[in-house]
Amino acid sequence: MEAHRSNAIALCEWFRANARELPWRELPSPYHVWISEIMLQQTRVEAVKPYYMRFMERLPDVQALANCPESVYLKLWEGLGYYSRVRNLHAAAEQIMEQFDGRLPASKEELLQLKGIGSYTAGAIASIAFGLPEPAVDGNVLRVLMRLMDCKWDIAAASTKKQVETLLADWLTLDGIRPGELNQALMELGALVCVPNGAPHCADCPWQASCRSCQNQTWDQIPVKTPK
Ligand code: ADE
Repeated sequence: MEAHRSNAIALCEWFRANARELPWRELPSPYHVWISEIMLQQTRVEAVKPYYMRFMERLPDVQALANCPESVYLKLWEGLGYYSRVRNLHAAAEQIMEQFDGRLPASKEELLQLKGIGSYTAGAIASIAFGLPEPAVDGNVLRVLMRLMDCKWDIAAASTKKQVETLLADWLTLDGIRPGELNQALMELGALVCVPNGAPHCADCPWQASCRSCQNQTWDQIPVKTPK
């Protein structure tokens, strides 16, 4: 556990020094985190930024989204693709108005009841907006943790994700760890240092001394992902 603790703390320190300034990080309210995480699911950060700004200007809260006509929210999404995302956002906003008095619920369990919110998004909102120790495991997070441990489990397997969630649930409850910070730091490490394509930037990594796949030079074999 001590090794986990020092890795988690080193990662959070690295994040505080290196985090990108992103519009959804300025005011991480549940609504802001929700909209940004849905936009970021299939779209790159740089492409999301202008869409996020326009969306927030026009639809600043759950009520505005719930009352928004289809033609308007489709227009705001035009070019982002995967339009079921915005249809689900609208349906969930109506659900939040009816069932939760216009406020996003503060538990992973309730968040999972909302249209379009799966385990990753529920964990991201619960941790970043509400400070709850919930894992938010996406492809980036799987990659950096599999590399840290030089672990060749299949990341397409549900059991791998489950194991990583269990491991992270421990990290997230360590003394002195802010869950939203740790989850975002894992995403940021995957985006900036432990990149998916080409060589990772190990010289800039807060885990360089403890990373098994850096020591063993196996990063190019990880993650293992069997086609479905
Ligand atoms: N990708 C997915 N969620 C993200 C976040 N909160 N910050 C940066 N990149 C992300």
